[in-house]
Amino acid sequence: MKTPFGTTKDGKKITHYKLTNQSGMSVDIINYGGIISSMEVPDKNGVFGDVVLGHDNIKDYEEKSDYFGCIVGRFGNRIAHGKFSLDSTEYKLFLNNNGHTLHGGQKGFDKQVWEAKSFENEDTLGVKLSYTSIDGEEGYPGNLKCEVTYTLTKDNALQIDYMAVTDKTTVINLTNHTYFNLKDGGNSSILDHQLQIDASHYTPVDEGLIPTGEIIPVAETPFDFRQPKPIGKNIAVDHVQLNYGLGYDHNYVLDKTDNALEPISKVIEPESGRILEVLTTEPGIQFYSGNFLKGNITGKHGITYQHRTGFCLETQHFPDSPNQPHFPSTVLKPGETYQSTTIYRFKVQD
Ligand code: GLA
Repeated sequence: MKTPFGTTKDGKKITHYKLTNQSGMSVDIINYGGIISSMEVPDKNGVFGDVVLGHDNIKDYEEKSDYFGCIVGRFGNRIAHGKFSLDSTEYKLFLNNNGHTLHGGQKGFDKQVWEAKSFENEDTLGVKLSYTSIDGEEGYPGNLKCEVTYTLTKDNALQIDYMAVTDKTTVINLTNHTYFNLKDGGNSSILDHQLQIDASHYTPVDEGLIPTGEIIPVAETPFDFRQPKPIGKNIAVDHVQLNYGLGYDHNYVLDKTDNALEPISKVIEPESGRILEVLTTEPGIQFYSGNFLKGNITGKHGITYQHRTGFCLETQHFPDSPNQPHFPSTVLKPGETYQSTTIYRFKVQD
């Protein structure tokens, strides 16, 4: 179902798409930022509830959003000092985060209006979004043609397929920044959610949340989520990395060794019985525990988002990869196709 979603400050009309599958799960998408604005999934009693944070109008997305539900690009997470070099040319980006570049810069993909087309197949339905970022936009080289396809399947999974091509060598790292709260969509803390991530290593950061370049074990640290544990269990431990992140805001190095689409993370919310499984082709995932939410944004359903009332699991290549030659490469060359897939799949506890 397609309905108008208002007009941006610069006069662009925004469209809202509602995808509903055979079991009643729905996903709402707007073509401003490719934002997932709602996801209604059943709990253990079959009661549907919205499990993502967001707004119900375009003005609030433009003025009061903290990357709620959006597509992040051209480069997810941070690039140190907003600088990188390719073929001995240095490129400079807008510094929007304490002297560094975060989530694409000043006007990243989260603030662009995407072209949208809905589609329906026998068992699935979705929206295909397209955006061409022109050569030099936000300082990045190359005309970059991107397509992001959201597909809702009959088994309550939302599949996100990313695709891009360039006409000059460039860097790319696309992700989605949905904040989940499986209990109540952001009305209460996420600290009781039980999280599991198939990662025995992570990339520690400095004070500016830039990776130091090390890849270190999670074993015997608060970062060990190899077995499910409540997000809040060790979050208050006095650990330098938790102090820098103000909680969890770190890239996990997934244990899988190829780029196959595999389950890599699971979240269980004990009260509602809702379960979220994450599958990805990416080598990393940013686990962010909503540390910057501080009760100054009121979203849909009249909910004011307090500290740690949403968490993000952003599948990605590692932050600052353009400056860390030993991290998996984020370089895209003309003639190559960037492809990446992530699935958020919902289940309930038996
Ligand atoms: C990412 C970053 C965080 C923060 C959030 C948005 O998860 O790693 O540091 O910027 O996005 O607030």
